[in-house]
Amino acid sequence: MTRKRKTVAELRSQRWFSAPGATGVHKHRRMKQGGFAPADYEDKPVIGILSTWSDFNTCHAHFPQRIEDVKRGVWEAGGFPVVIPMQSVSESFVRPTSMMYRNFLAMEAEEAIRSQPVDGVVLMGGCDKTTPGLVMGAASAGVPAIYVPAGPLLNGYWRGERMGAGSSTWKTEADYRAGRLTREEWVASGDTTARSAGTCNTMGTASTMTSLTDVLGLTLPGASSIPAVDAAHQRMAALSGRRIVEMVWEDLKPTDIVTPASLRNAVITDMALSGSTNSLIHLVAMARRLHLDLSLADFGKASEGVPVVANLMPSGKYLMEDFYFAGGLTALLNVIREHLDLSCVTANGKTLGENIEGAEVFDHDVIRPLDNPVYGSGGLIVLTGNLAPRGAVLKRSAATPELLSHTGPAIVFENRKDMMARIDDPKLGATADSVLVLRDAGPVGAPGMPEWGMLPIPKPLLEKGVRDMVRISDARMSGTSYGTCVLHVCPESRVGGPLALVKTGDLIRLDAEKRSIDILVDEAELERRRAAWKPPAPHYTRGYGELYSQHVLQADEGCDFDFLARAGVTEEPEVH
Ligand code: FES
Repeated sequence: MTRKRKTVAELRSQRWFSAPGATGVHKHRRMKQGGFAPADYEDKPVIGILSTWSDFNTCHAHFPQRIEDVKRGVWEAGGFPVVIPMQSVSESFVRPTSMMYRNFLAMEAEEAIRSQPVDGVVLMGGCDKTTPGLVMGAASAGVPAIYVPAGPLLNGYWRGERMGAGSSTWKTEADYRAGRLTREEWVASGDTTARSAGTCNTMGTASTMTSLTDVLGLTLPGASSIPAVDAAHQRMAALSGRRIVEMVWEDLKPTDIVTPASLRNAVITDMALSGSTNSLIHLVAMARRLHLDLSLADFGKASEGVPVVANLMPSGKYLMEDFYFAGGLTALLNVIREHLDLSCVTANGKTLGENIEGAEVFDHDVIRPLDNPVYGSGGLIVLTGNLAPRGAVLKRSAATPELLSHTGPAIVFENRKDMMARIDDPKLGATADSVLVLRDAGPVGAPGMPEWGMLPIPKPLLEKGVRDMVRISDARMSGTSYGTCVLHVCPESRVGGPLALVKTGDLIRLDAEKRSIDILVDEAELERRRAAWKPPAPHYTRGYGELYSQHVLQADEGCDFDFLARAGVTEEPEVH
């Protein structure tokens, strides 16, 4: 595809460096202070490298080296690289929840780009929220952007078994609580699940979001599957640095790449990967930043159309390193090519079809053919009913098939504190048929919609061998988790959604076949409860927490801030 090339005079950075009079002189003086001669940066695309590195984000521990690789590519292609640090939003350390800071990162990225002489950006992220946060910010800033995914960490093994970050740790934790593992065994087994730099090596949220960003065309083809510490990852980073310089000259922006067709490709691929339930929130938010429509119904439709062909934890048995050696994402896309629009343009200037042509599968158990899938239809389904009028999500491929049609009495927890205090108490009276309900865990509620949706199984039941129950909440669930967990119940309980009205003992019916989730209480009684309901006191009365609570949208709208999701005018800064 040939695009009209930008001229030097059209570079955004020229507004700073070619500014008339004292303004331009001052900008050059300060660049010289940094040790750069005008020949280093003059008349060249200035490439911002937005890095989410910090010592707290151990998934990005290799970024200092990768930044050097990206810089090398930018220099080689005739650009000028500038590192711009971003908050790292570590999934493991940021609390009350990383989700609360995704929008903060998106704002930071957008404003850092707009307020400085940047012509194009390399986005460096991978740990869950960093991918959507950076993409949302760059999309709103409207400059050419390429994504460099951190890449998955290496396979873990314990006693000869593959150990996946998250997925395996939840299992061994349940075994420890049930008394089947000693504390030492539990700790030792968990340590094997994070054995190198890189993002969680299951098809959790990190791998899902980097894969979908790859499908959208915002990375070099197949970049998301390369293990973080592989030399191929260094080469990919350098090539991304080279490519962004050309993208600036071509003026190839996220708005040119992400279209309704590429979004549909991403949703279809999400189903074939059995991606994380979190993707239903992040993709909607990303689409809305580009003023494209994407709704939960679109995921519901896609779910019927394509089977799960990626045999990856938590729905399958392999890990991302296996996926890479089996051919990676490009090979998987080639398997499902009949479901995709192959004409979509991607960051390397070629179409998706051109990028995946001839991509081979080398292990047909890791990437299954369409006629021998891991699961016969898409991994994720959307439920509605009187308990979730605006939708809820279930990862059916990671659920217990017998529980997909289930009616049982609710045991309600007011919040996580209440749940943790009572969950293992034999007086709770839980049976395998009970439906565990957690409220006050939504976007405003917890706050920040934490990944509490895989409620723990009560210890007395664990000891009897029960490993799954129907669990319902307005929380999210880690992409590495599993079980019959109905998530993202919308609207959330804290803003008066029906989840706030459930009482212990009420019957709840889950019917995955009919895509429904209902509380079997008559409408008049629900109305009485609604009239008596009082909203809890707010968590914050100042600061970012208050801004967040007042402006965050519900899960079906992507949990972006209302003032960021809407269309509007943002002026370019006056340079002085
Ligand atoms: Fe960073 Fe899982 S904790 S990707």
